[in-house]
Amino acid sequence: MKALVTGATGFIGSHMVEHLCEQGFDVVAGDLPSALDAPPEDRTRWPGVCRAAGAKLVALDLTDQESTSAAVRDAELVFHVAAVFDYTAPEGLLRAVNVDGTRTLFDALTRAGSCTRVLNWGAGGIYGSPGPNVIPFQESGPKRPSNRYLVSKWDQEVLAHSYRQHGIEVTSIRPTSPYGPRAAYGSGQLLMGLAERPVAFSNLTGNIPFVHVRDLCRAALHLARLPVADGEAYNVSDEGRIDAVALARLVAVEMGVRPKMLPPLPIPLVRRGLSGAARLSRARASRTGARPFLEYDQVQYFGRNYLYSIDKLKATGFAFRWPQPEPGLRDTLRWYVDQGWIKRSPKPRAAAVAARGGD
Ligand SMILES: NC(=O)c1ccc[n+]([C@@H]2O[C@H](COP(=O)([O-])OP(=O)(O)OC[C@H]3O[C@@H](n4cnc5c(N)ncnc54)[C@H](O)[C@@H]3O)[C@@H](O)[C@H]2O)c1
Repeated sequence: MKALVTGATGFIGSHMVEHLCEQGFDVVAGDLPSALDAPPEDRTRWPGVCRAAGAKLVALDLTDQESTSAAVRDAELVFHVAAVFDYTAPEGLLRAVNVDGTRTLFDALTRAGSCTRVLNWGAGGIYGSPGPNVIPFQESGPKRPSNRYLVSKWDQEVLAHSYRQHGIEVTSIRPTSPYGPRAAYGSGQLLMGLAERPVAFSNLTGNIPFVHVRDLCRAALHLARLPVADGEAYNVSDEGRIDAVALARLVAVEMGVRPKMLPPLPIPLVRRGLSGAARLSRARASRTGARPFLEYDQVQYFGRNYLYSIDKLKATGFAFRWPQPEPGLRDTLRWYVDQGWIKRSPKPRAAAVAARGGD
């Protein structure tokens, strides 16, 4: 069976390609020409992984009708992973790729007529900020996307599902925070930042929702084959609970350093301070052209308690290979060390024992 993956060389796309190849699919890996030509030292695009997995690499720019039409030819299953996932991206780009690009893809699929199901990548962030009366987030609950990236992802999902009236089956997944090898942005920033400085306020007890990238790809394929999933959307998050304090400890043990636990502080106040710093950092970045040191939209996640219902996914019979985040997070940290993205302490033993709270 021929499967097309859009955004194939990115973090999640490259894992989707590997998973489909392992499952015996004839995989077309579509991405921007610049992504297909990315050099090995690029930490965000992985064309070599797609090639090594056995996929055929094709140029696919969602803002270009011609390359999109050529890439979708004969595709039976489409995993629409491509998007601009960047909280600092201008609104015009987010809409041009995530919304208008999705329209271009579905128009091309409608014309081609070979596709039976599209698995559309949504985002778990579309529900907005968690409050005592709104968690755990349920798929049918209100959508309050809080920034322009999330607005574009929700608009993308609504648009994708509107193509069911053109005879294309559509299922959306809403991942929370995917982690795993090759994550440089999002969870990657959090883990690598903590590896450098494992620090947390002792009252940071809100849940950080993770999902192993391989489980995310396994869930996508599972749902793509499921007739009842047509027209449905699913939260995809693991079954574990981990807060910032536990995460800082886990990272410290793995890195062989002592975690720093700070006394409790009023979290809303800290978030306000960080938001101010992020605004300054954004203003500075717009002058220098560099990336902001702190991203305003990411700061808004700080200290909140994110809980997602995954009952709907589990009711389909899906079983996680990484139900709890700890083993996969440790493996991911080891992968970063092996790649030289982070460094372990040269004197790991004593500090790791201290981080664990002594033997
Ligand atoms: N990583 C996360 O934390 C996270 C969380 C929830 C949802 N998502 C969603 O998962 C998907 C993949 O995210 P990721 O983390 O792998 O991001 P990524 O940036 O690593 O990958 C995105 C891919 O899309 C491609 N792309 C960008 N513009 C394109 C265009 N015009 N035409 C074709 N391809 C284009 C990029 O080249 C890249 O390969 C996205 O849809 C994102 O919104 C990601």
